[in-house]
Amino acid sequence: MQAGGGSSYKPRKPFPIDNGFGDPAVLRYSIHRDSHPTGKSPESNMNPAISKTLPAIGGRQLYDHFIEIARNRITTRQFDPDYEMPKEHYEMVLEAARHAPSGANAQPWHFIVIRDPEVKQEIADYFVAEQRLRASLKMKFPTPNYAGLATAPGFIVIVADFRYVKAFPMLKDDDSDLNKMYIENAERILLQSVAAATMSAHLAAAALGYNVWWVTAIGQQKAQEAMRPLLKVPDELAILDIMCFGPPLKEPYKRWKKSPEEIIHWDVFDRKNFPTDEELDIWIKEKRHKVMYKDASRID
Ligand SMILES: Cc1cc2nc3c(=O)[nH]c(=O)nc-3n(C[C@H](O)[C@H](O)[C@H](O)COP(=O)(O)O)c2cc1C
Repeated sequence: MQAGGGSSYKPRKPFPIDNGFGDPAVLRYSIHRDSHPTGKSPESNMNPAISKTLPAIGGRQLYDHFIEIARNRITTRQFDPDYEMPKEHYEMVLEAARHAPSGANAQPWHFIVIRDPEVKQEIADYFVAEQRLRASLKMKFPTPNYAGLATAPGFIVIVADFRYVKAFPMLKDDDSDLNKMYIENAERILLQSVAAATMSAHLAAAALGYNVWWVTAIGQQKAQEAMRPLLKVPDELAILDIMCFGPPLKEPYKRWKKSPEEIIHWDVFDRKNFPTDEELDIWIKEKRHKVMYKDASRID
């Protein structure tokens, strides 16, 4: 997985910003009139007071574009090292993150854009060290190669402010079991909030034509402590994950996804697709490495 691995693949450049979707406002209205999936414009369902202040947001054609983006949000772990990420693309990606939902609208996140190649290299070194540590611990997890972090053109460190757990429902100064339950849920709310913002950013990057890489592998305390001073992150905050994006170095591949039948339940949970613990262990042993590193068409 080293850079420049002899592939004849030519990295594709991101779509130009004006990619033919046309002016969003014009598109919005023509979609609503002609092709909303219900056959009815969402505007006609809207409270007239609201529709004066909020723009209409969707329609079948926009959904089709969106689902194309969602399907083509694909992980790559090696990017074109020569590509320079325009500042504007960072701003566009983070604009999507900024609008994400969050518990109590707390927006408990910060985004550090890393442009200095030496800093990228230093962060990559932490990950490669972690990769080696995991191998020596015999975790049997198929840890990927993190060397590609050093040359990722788009590189954003995502920082969470866990102090905001206090903004979510819990009792004050109470260490009862009841409150532990609320605190645990508050932490989940916070993590889900930051994940929502991260996902929005990933989709925006995919919409610009980039491949992405969501990296969480160094949440451990030791790595946090090493990275904080490098990025001048206050002690109160947690470095949660890293988002890389850019044109891929080699042709990316679409990974296996579960079918709708396997994951969608109508009205009640259908146990048909509920694996036993034993089946799950077998899946981890025999399938996990394939679904992580192989094209969907090569999963038996
Ligand atoms: C919460 C989360 C954590 C992840 N952590 C890592 C990580 O630490 N290292 C890594 O290489 N990939 C990581 N990934 C990427 C997944 O491996 C990848 O999304 C998955 O294999 C599916 O591939 P796809 O993104 O191409 O659909 C993470 C993804 C998510 C959503």
